[in-house]
Formats: sequence, structure tokens, C-alpha cells
Amino acid sequence: MSDNLYSLQEVSKHNNNESTWIIIKSSVYDVTDFLNEHPGGAELIKECAGKNATSDFNNSGHSSDARRTMKLYKIGEISEESKVINDDISDKENLSTKKRKIFIPLFCNCTNRQ
Ligand code: HEM
Repeated sequence: MSDNLYSLQEVSKHNNNESTWIIIKSSVYDVTDFLNEHPGGAELIKECAGKNATSDFNNSGHSSDARRTMKLYKIGEISEESKVINDDISDKENLSTKKRKIFIPLFCNCTNRQ
């Protein structure tokens, strides 16, 4: 099942209560049956329905338990031709986090020299 490939366009159709799919990194998850079980509430996931939820998922500080649960809902991967666009979207969303990670070592280095 997990070898199924989906385009971004196909995933975007699953944005309703009957069928809710989300993308995290390059994987596609069918979370329709999980919506009402989500400890963070159904609404938050619904806002990401049919879209790339990578940064929302990461920024919500999910536990390793949550990451294990996530695997149960994986239905496949984003197809190669959609991957380039999808990577680009998550790169832009994560840019502020990356900048912070670069800034911290630079800052420590400066204080060490004094
Ligand atoms: C398959 C996808 C997801 C799974 C399996 C999942 C699972 C969980 C679990 C188990 C928790 C409880 C705390 C923990 O163990 O980390 C949680 C909390 C939370 N989730 Fe998710 N989640 C998913 C997607 C999302 C998405 C896409 C968002 C944001 C749009 C989100 C936002 C949150 C928030 C804000 C909380 C904290 C709730 C609180 O502490 O009151 N989750 N999630």
C-alpha cells in the first residue's frame, strides 16, 4: 500500500469530511478516521486537508508516540514530478526555523572569542 504514488493535485481533492488526506514531508496520510481521535482536535488537521502539513505538524511539538501513530495512516508517497514542488513548499515554510538553527551556533562562537 505504501508504494502508492500520488500527485499534489490528487491529494488536494481529499479536503473534506468524507476523505481527509495530508502530506507530511514526502508521505501521504489518509487521516479521515483519525480526525475525531486527534488529541489536538479535528479542526487543526482539517485546516491542512489536501495540503502540505509538514511545518504545522513539526511546529506542534509532536511526541515520538504521535510519529508512531502517524505511520498507521500512511497510504503512499508524493509522485516524483510533484516532489520538486512539494519540497519547495516545505523549504519555504521551514526557512525561519533553519535561520534560527544557523544563528545559534554563530552567536555562541562570538561569545567564546571574548
Ligand atoms: C497523522 C497526523 C497526526 C498525528 C498522528 C497526530 C497525533 C497527535 C498526538 C498523539 C497528539 C498528543 C500529543 C503528542 O503525543 O504529541 C497530538 C497533539 C497535537 N497535534 Fe497532532 N497529529 C497529527 C497531525 C497534526 C497536524 C497536521 C496538526 C496541525 C495542523 C496537529 C496539531 C496538534 C496540536 C496543536 C497538538 C497539541 C494539542 C494539545 O496539547 O492540546 N497535529 N497530535
